[in-house]
Formats: sequence, structure tokens, C-alpha cells
Amino acid sequence: MCGIIGILGTAPVADRLVEALRHLEYRGYDSAGIAVATADGMARLRRAGKLHHLATALLTTELSGSAGIGHTRWATHGAATEANAHPHVAGRVCIVHNGIIENHADLAAELQAGGRQFESETDTEVLAHLLDHMLAGGAPIERIMADLMPKLRGAFAFAALLDGGTQMIVARRASPLAIGFGDSEMYVGSDALALAGLTRRLCYLEEGDWALISRDGAAIFDADNQPVERPVVLSEATGALIGKGNFRHYMEREIHEQPEVLGYTLAYYLDSRNRQPALPVLPFDPCKLPRLTIVAAGTSYYAGVVAKYWLEHVAGVLVEVDIASEFRYREAEMPVGGAALFISQSGESLDTLMALRYARQKAQTILALVNQPESSIAREADVVLPTRAGPEIGVASTKAFTTQLMALAVLSLDWAAKRGRLSADEVADRLQALGELPELIGDMLSNLEPYQPIAHGLAQARDVLYLGRGTSYPIAMEGALKLKELSYIHAEGYAAGEMKHGPIALIDEGVPVVMVAPSDALFEKTASNAREVLARGGRVILLSDAGGVQHIGSFASHIIELPTVHPFVAPILYSVPVQVLAYMTALEKGTDIDQPRNLAKSVTVE
Ligand code: G6P
Repeated sequence: MCGIIGILGTAPVADRLVEALRHLEYRGYDSAGIAVATADGMARLRRAGKLHHLATALLTTELSGSAGIGHTRWATHGAATEANAHPHVAGRVCIVHNGIIENHADLAAELQAGGRQFESETDTEVLAHLLDHMLAGGAPIERIMADLMPKLRGAFAFAALLDGGTQMIVARRASPLAIGFGDSEMYVGSDALALAGLTRRLCYLEEGDWALISRDGAAIFDADNQPVERPVVLSEATGALIGKGNFRHYMEREIHEQPEVLGYTLAYYLDSRNRQPALPVLPFDPCKLPRLTIVAAGTSYYAGVVAKYWLEHVAGVLVEVDIASEFRYREAEMPVGGAALFISQSGESLDTLMALRYARQKAQTILALVNQPESSIAREADVVLPTRAGPEIGVASTKAFTTQLMALAVLSLDWAAKRGRLSADEVADRLQALGELPELIGDMLSNLEPYQPIAHGLAQARDVLYLGRGTSYPIAMEGALKLKELSYIHAEGYAAGEMKHGPIALIDEGVPVVMVAPSDALFEKTASNAREVLARGGRVILLSDAGGVQHIGSFASHIIELPTVHPFVAPILYSVPVQVLAYMTALEKGTDIDQPRNLAKSVTVE
């Protein structure tokens, strides 16, 4: 998985390729490279590590040419070295690729038997050689692509620059690819963001499509190798790269943006006249819905778990929730007339997209809760529910998560009203509580001093447990995920009541236990679990409100006291301190907060 850019231009491209790659770093940042068709042939510049290494190298390298391709990589096959960095070259072909060619080993063996040699450990170089080998036969490109596409297994998108930069072959299966139309220039990129600084006129290739691009335009062919027209749309994506402002990291900025974007998201889902939920029209009646299946990955999955609790508890809807990478291979039955909701910040997580397609085959109505309205998942959904978080750059999701929760909360209330489970007043109470969150969170974020000693202690720990019950359980899991991805400390989020079935064995004075414990209906039980931790010499870090602190605060080694809120909205409020704890612990440890090792913002491989 990776980001792709290609330009067949009329002016120098090297700087523009690197600029476009800046917008694609969310797809990987292990290495980056560009290749430009120069007067002396194809010239490559590649660097291991983040894009700025490539950008710095370009300052002192002459790469002059008006056609080129570029790539930012998240390593799948072969380490993150310069030799494995894209573009890869074989004869006439210079290629960049996103995804995995699953049968690359068999293809490589055939090519090696024919005398081909490889310089890298990548599946991409195999693809470059295969295409070059097929082109050498001299058949028309339509014939070659008709033969090539069925030979490739897996999910991929690629752009191959040919013949001194006069044309490009591009293709996609599952991984996204867009063609951009400029004035006498043509572009290709992984998404609208990549192309934002170049053109607004885009055409998204569909599943199995390939295209031959020249400076005059693009000839597109479908999965049956038939010429096809794909609509050209005007993209809303802007090329503006958001800065960090006065913040040290994008993540810090995004944490502090939450009051504002939670407000936007709530406003989007409310009717401004009567302050009642106003969701996009759904093609089914929620009162007759046999089941809602929620599927997502990573942090978005935890938003789905919170939604399950909400929808079951307040709306009485039967909900199943699963991790995308598991769901798609379970071959799960899905009920006739059912709906499936896919939650994704990027709208590009491949597992989530493939799970969506599975649900489509099972005739489910497809809802997508996404932060990127032009993403693959949004485009394939029947109904798009947007989050209004704005661009999220930090790899660890923060404002996207809480805005997902905000949208899901209003959806739950809407369905609860429609299904007669909550009265109009009860809905209004909860909406009021949601409406108070931006200010409460803003206040919380204005004083982060109490977090400092806790973060200092967490940074010394080898393992950390996060415990919670009810909707605090997914927040405990999210807190643990945040801590491990940012600070590389092993952390587990557990249902507080399950602790006695295993994790309690881990507890000693060296294992901090973060209790996510608003004083809700389950508080007494969570308090008992806190006592069990203390009885075994454990250290409790208590996240609770005044009532909870009064009850068990004296036992805790540290307390973060949060405002008392309606229990329905507590998971949104309690998301923020677990983000801040992870952020400040990572600051203590000096890790790379916005781009932690081995991760990527959007994972477009299985
Ligand atoms: C990656 C990111 C996570 C994100 C997950 C799902 O693992 O590092 O922050 O939660 O993907 O991404 P999505 O864009 O589908 O929400």
C-alpha cells in the first residue's frame, strides 16, 4: 500500500511530483521516489525514510523532464530500503504500484527462468518485468493488458511510464486510482488529494479498469477489456496543506480542534429549526431493519463498538459489529433487508472496502460514515454519512474518532425516536448533552497540567492496562491502542469485568491501570474492579467525574476529574483524556508522534 502520482506534462515535473507526494504521505512514509523522463533517458531519485529525505536530495539533483511518476511507500515486500523504493524499472517500463501482487513469487520464477534478474525484493519489480516482457512481444497494448490483468492476483493499482515519457499505462483492482485532466497535461494519482494542486477535473477508474494515457487524453477499458467512458467530476479536495499552527504536532492540533469539529458534525446532523436529528434520507425504515452490521478497522472499529452499545441500548436495534479484516473472510450470513454501516476516516482502508463489497453481494443497504467524501468507500455506498472533522494528518486518529461518535450518537437517537424507544424530551435531553460537549472539552483542554505526572509515570511502564465497562470498554480499548501506537508501550484495553479472567494475573506495582469510569449505572461494578486492582498492589489512574472521584478517588494514585455529563455522551468526553495521556506519554518518550514507526494513516493492503 502506498501513494501513486504520475504526470504527463508540458513543464518540469520533478518538484510537482514531490509536492503531490506530500499529500499522499498518509498512505505510507517508509521511503519515497520519483522517476522523470529526461533527455538522457529515465532518471530516478529514491530515498529510504520520510519524504523530506527525497525532497532534500532533489535540491541538489538535476532531474529535468516533463513526464514522471512518484511514489511514497509503506513496505509490504522487502525492507524499507532505497533498493526497494519505487519507481522500479525494467527495460521500457518504469512503474509505481500500490497494493500487493499476491502471486508475485510464481511470476518471478517464470521470469527468472526466462533470464530476467531482479534488483529488489519487491512484488512491484516483478510486475515491471512482466509488463516489459509482454510489451517486448510487440502486440497491441489492448491485447497485452487483456493478457496481463488476469495473470495478476491481489489488490493493486499501478502506473507505468513508457517510451520516454510519452504514455502511461495505469490499472486498478480494489486499490483506488484517479485520472486527472489538465490543460495539455494529464495526471494520475491515488486520490483526489494527490491531484488537488494539479487539477480539479477527475475521473475515478472503476474496479478492474485500465487506461492508456497520453498528453491528449485517456483511453479507458473496463474489466472485460471493452472501451468505456467514466464520468469526469469536479473534485472538492483542496491542495492546501494544513500546517501545525502553534502546535508541536498535527496530533496536538487535531486534539485541540475537537470542540470545533464536534460542533460542526453535530450541526450537520441537526435540523437547525427544531434541534431534532436530521439525517440523510435512508432507503429503508429503521423500524423494520432486521439487523445493522457495523464493520471497520482500527480506531474506527472502536467507534463501531460504542455505536453497538448505543443502538442496542437506546434504539433497540439488533447490531453486529466486526473488524473488517475478520468479517470479510467469515462468509457471514446477512439478513434479507439488512443494512451494513462501514466506518472509516480515510474511506480507503482496503479491508473495510472489501467487507463493503461482501455486504453488497449479500444485498445489504450500504451506509458509509467517512471523513473523506470522495473516497472509495463513500463512492461505493448507498448513503454517505460524513464526519466534519476536516483533514486529519496525525496517523493516530483523534478528531475523526470523536466526530464519528458524534454522528453515531445522533443516528442512535434518531432511530430511538423513530422506533418509539425514547420520547421527544428524552431525545432532546441527550441532544442537549451532546451540544454541551464542545465547550466542556474546550475547558478540559485548556488545562492539561494534571496529565503531566501521569504521563511521566506511564512512560516508565512496560505494560499498561485500560479497563472500562459498557461504552467505556471500547474507550479503554481505544486508549490502549493510542498508547501503544504513539509511545510503543505495550497496553491492553479490557472489559473491566473480564479482568478477573486473565489480565488480573499481570497486576503488580509496575503495571499502571487506567480506569475509564464515569459514574454511570455500571460505576459500582467498575469500582469493585478498581478495588481488585488495589488489593493486588496495582496502581490505579482514575478517569472519572466528581461522583466517581468522591467514591473511589482516595484509592487512586492519580486522578483526572472530568465534568459530570449524561452517561449517553460520556464515551465522547472520555475519548479526549485517553488521547491526551497517549500524546503526553509519547512526548516523554520522544517518539515520532505524527508518523509512528511501522504505521500508516490509511492501510490499503490486507
Ligand atoms: C490505520 C490508522 C488508524 C485508523 C485505521 C482505520 O491503522 O493508523 O488510525 O484507525 O487505519 O482507518 P480508517 O481510515 O478506515 O478509519
